[in-house]
Amino acid sequence: MSQAFDVVVIGAGPGGYIAAIRAAQLGFKVACIDEWKNAAGGPAPGGTCTNVGCIPSKALLQSSEHFEHANHHFADHGISTGKVTMDVAKMVGRKDTVVKQNNDGILYLFKKNKVTFFHGRGSFVAAADGAYQIKVAGAAEEVITGKQVVVATGSNARALPGVPFDEELILSNDGALRIGAVPKKLALIGSGVIGLEMGSVWRRLGAEVTILEGLPTFLGAVDEQIAKEAKKAFDKQGLKIELGVKVGEIKTGKKGVNVAYTNAKGEAVSLDADKLIVSIGRVPNTIGLNAEGVGLQLDERGAIVVDGDCKTNLPGVWAVGDVVRGPMLAHKAEEEGVAVAERIAGQHGHVNFNTIPWVIYTSPEIAWVGRTEQQLKADGVAYKAGTFPFLANGRARALGDTTGMVKFLADAKTDEILGVHIVGPMASELISEAVVAMEFKASAEDIARICHAHPSLSEATKEAALAVDKRTLNF
Ligand code: FAD
Ligand code: NAI
Repeated sequence: MSQAFDVVVIGAGPGGYIAAIRAAQLGFKVACIDEWKNAAGGPAPGGTCTNVGCIPSKALLQSSEHFEHANHHFADHGISTGKVTMDVAKMVGRKDTVVKQNNDGILYLFKKNKVTFFHGRGSFVAAADGAYQIKVAGAAEEVITGKQVVVATGSNARALPGVPFDEELILSNDGALRIGAVPKKLALIGSGVIGLEMGSVWRRLGAEVTILEGLPTFLGAVDEQIAKEAKKAFDKQGLKIELGVKVGEIKTGKKGVNVAYTNAKGEAVSLDADKLIVSIGRVPNTIGLNAEGVGLQLDERGAIVVDGDCKTNLPGVWAVGDVVRGPMLAHKAEEEGVAVAERIAGQHGHVNFNTIPWVIYTSPEIAWVGRTEQQLKADGVAYKAGTFPFLANGRARALGDTTGMVKFLADAKTDEILGVHIVGPMASELISEAVVAMEFKASAEDIARICHAHPSLSEATKEAALAVDKRTLNF
């Protein structure tokens, strides 16, 4: 007899494993299926985020930032180190340990919450008797049933047409996170989030990095003023970013990779590199799910079609995270996972798409929530802007990191905060205050009147809110 569950979740990335835990908390009998294997062939739940995304990239960003500080900034504090060297194998090994701790943490959470975990590929078989039969193909094959099914199968890196990833010379995010030695020359295609984060890691470790971007604008989704400030900082660091290029033929050989491209001036350029990272976005993943077999509707990008509540066209089937519309972010996937579990329980789970923060973990960090100045202009919204530079913040001076600013955008009439944009130290942490403020529909004046600890970077947030009313105190 097949095991019967109230809820079956396919995929244990941040969307799936969080949905499973929340559903179990709500009293359902829950199964979660995930096929990811670690190097030993064992289960590695956590999805892209834990295995080849958020967590490992941040581990390498941290290691490489320490290296950069030891090499270039310790001396400012009177610390002399002699020659600083990097053991890349150890750095990558540390990253693998961090990943394993997270994999194990999720398996522990499944046990704690009584979620039954299946290691293998899940696919729809058929709908029968008010439930769905789901085949699990792992070490053995079995069929389980779920009255409700949550699909959280994530996304995969997009390859350039005709240029498949070999993960040796032409790398996706996967290969980019396990390069074994610092390449002398590293090329990247796409100066989005992965391009900038991975480019930063290997530049800090000594690679000559060139990022080729197809669009003529740098970080088009980011507030223009903030993107400009970030670009200035990256230029200074020697991160070479070429905008407006058209990538042509890509050849691999014994010596590495050659990328032929046309630059923004229309000149033909030939770029040699030891390795090439292709970071041109991601595609929703429904491979092997047998979506067509049960009539699960996909859109032209291959994403599962859902409504505002993450309901698919099939009754009792939901989908969350990267496999559906919306930003491909771990915290967005998690919020959708929680909301779906609560909706299954008859509650009113809710995700506010207007207050999902974005962070790019470069140095300086870039973080934002809400609308940019260019979006407000396009939407015809009357707004007031206030900025405050970290140069005028005591804590930033003490840290020795005064790059960037905090920028507030507020409604011209009501003063409601419409967007907050930060480039600078710890922007990833600072943005949370803005998210809370916007979630509570705060005005810039609200933030300006709240006591912020001194000395702290968050005082720049308060000052930027004061700047909306043209009354900064420290600038
Ligand atoms: P995934 O994490 O992709 O998980 C899907 C899971 O489903 C996988 O484990 C997969 O094995 C499994 N699966 C798929 N099909 C089946 C099947 N048929 N049967 C069983 N299992 C299946 N986001 C952030 O918010 N912050 C960051 O700092 C960040 N950094 C990133 C860095 C990189 C390099 C990359 C590539 C992404 C990063 N992201 C980041 C994005 C983030 O990783 C994704 O948005 C997030 O993982 C999506 O979660 P998900 O649960 O939808 O899917
Ligand atoms: P991206 O969408 O962030 O950036 C892709 C870039 O490649 C864009 O600038 C695009 O214009 C460019 N591009 C596309 N096709 C091109 C071509 N043929 N030639 C040259 N340039 C081209 O995608 P990326 O960096 O691959 O990351 C995927 C997603 O993963 C992100 O959108 C984000 O959702 C998630 N992510 C989030 C992180 C975070 O939150 N810190 C970190 C890394 C990834």
